[in-house]
Amino acid sequence: MFASGAGSNFEALAQAGARAELGGDIVALLCDQPGAPVIERARRFGIEALVLPSPRHRSRLDDEAPWLHALQERQVSVVLLAGFMRRLHATLLDPYAGRMLNIHPSLLPAFTGLDAIGQAYRAGANVTGCTVHMVEDALDAGPILAQAEVERRADETLEQLEARIHAAEHALYPGTVRRFLTEPWRVDGARVRFGEGPGLSSHIGTAAGNG
Ligand code: GRF
Repeated sequence: MFASGAGSNFEALAQAGARAELGGDIVALLCDQPGAPVIERARRFGIEALVLPSPRHRSRLDDEAPWLHALQERQVSVVLLAGFMRRLHATLLDPYAGRMLNIHPSLLPAFTGLDAIGQAYRAGANVTGCTVHMVEDALDAGPILAQAEVERRADETLEQLEARIHAAEHALYPGTVRRFLTEPWRVDGARVRFGEGPGLSSHIGTAAGNG
């Protein structure tokens, strides 16, 4: 898993993993921020936490090579982003095409980028939510696996709405990962259809560990 910050989604996924409800094992946490709270969470779960220097030059693909090597050394078959605050490039995206997921706190394609919950709140959206999608080389874009709606309540503060969207994320992400790892699926244009197709096996030779 890749994360940069608080790690509440990491925690939700790690809890599901500890209950054997994730459909795979979390092999390691890769974090680009020394001191991020997510690192301590990983230690509590006994999950290896690697703090790798963040890619310095967003356009230089070589900067991502240590991240790729760390994944390959551990035979990681799937990468989950959870609050990882960097755009990734071809060095990582190409080898993990169709095998890298992200969660975003809006109903994509609405409100991409930073502060998505605040953007929706200020725009007056009555319904917002969260999205799990495959990662592609574009900001918060890629085939959608699952979404959860959160309806804004009358007189709700931004902080209250944020808390409810985060709770929706913590429910949505682990269940979606389990389906992705264990059920048939295929990419159908802008979305992932479950229940048909080869699923993960079409993207990897053998289902090794997950991460
Ligand atoms: C979540 O809202 C996630 O959707 C977004 O970044 C936030 C990470 O929160 N990509 P946390 O670190 O998992 O608590």
